[in-house]
Amino acid sequence: MKFSTLLAISIVFTIFVTTNSLQIHCIFSETFLNAVGNGYECHTTNILATQTTSVTSITGTHIVGKNHNDVTVIYTEGNYSLPFFPRNFSHFFPNIKAISVHFSTIETLYGDELDEFPQLEHISFWGNYYLKAISSQLFEKTPNMIHIWMNNNAIEKVGRDLFTPVDVSRLRFLGFSFNPCISRDISGDNRTAMISLINEIRDKCPYDELICLSLKNDMKEVQEKLESKVKLLEEKLDKCSLSQ
Ligand SMILES: *[C@@H]1O[C@H](CO)[C@@H](O)[C@H](O)[C@H]1NC(C)=O
Ligand SMILES: *[C@@H]1O[C@H](CO)[C@@H](O)[C@H](O)[C@H]1NC(C)=O
Ligand SMILES: *[C@@H]1O[C@H](CO)[C@@H](O)[C@H](O)[C@H]1NC(C)=O
Repeated sequence: MKFSTLLAISIVFTIFVTTNSLQIHCIFSETFLNAVGNGYECHTTNILATQTTSVTSITGTHIVGKNHNDVTVIYTEGNYSLPFFPRNFSHFFPNIKAISVHFSTIETLYGDELDEFPQLEHISFWGNYYLKAISSQLFEKTPNMIHIWMNNNAIEKVGRDLFTPVDVSRLRFLGFSFNPCISRDISGDNRTAMISLINEIRDKCPYDELICLSLKNDMKEVQEKLESKVKLLEEKLDKCSLSQ
């Protein structure tokens, strides 16, 4: 085998390994959040995650007497270098109740990001200046939300069924202020007021994912047809040049 081939293989292998491993360094501390009370937090900054990355290991020193099972809060600060919310945190921290994501470069919440945290009650997505769209599926597995902070992002589209799975009678804060399509918060236990903000979000940030999905499929179909037609023509053209 040529050296250059070996080199190419080893480079590909290195990229493969690095994109499929993600070590998270936590600074552990005790914390307090209104929605969940006293908590124990993993605070992490500068995660470099890619589209396929799951957390593969956790480093950092616990407070004496605490371990991974005590961690209830994940706080990530992206420093504009976090394009994707990492998966598989729950494998290490099975008792997460609150998640904060600040200053990421996440553009879309596709809907499965929170699925692995069934005890989740608080999320804070704040200062994610690239975050434009939220899928209807985001809270599908986390109906017990108490605080939802989505302030100061770039939100333009919110899936029309985003709040359908959420038990609105538990909600005590819904924050969507300082976004392009909406700027309003509601706090407290006024169910009518909560529902009115939910309806306002649906009206002002329309996102019909089914239409988008069907457009995407149409596009793919046309592209595939076009590609096969081009291939056919290329084959015919090949024969032309042979006969000349
Ligand atoms: C989660 O992490 C564990 C330990 O590294 C691993 O065995 C498991 O396959 C991971 N799951 C996913 C979905 O990445
Ligand atoms: C954020 O990223 C910039 C540029 O990469 C770096 O200079 C800075 O130290 C980082 N800030 C923190 C808090 O890590
Ligand atoms: C609840 O909110 C509705 C709509 O915003 C308002 O009309 C009503 O007075 C509020 N009820 C209480 C008890 O504050």
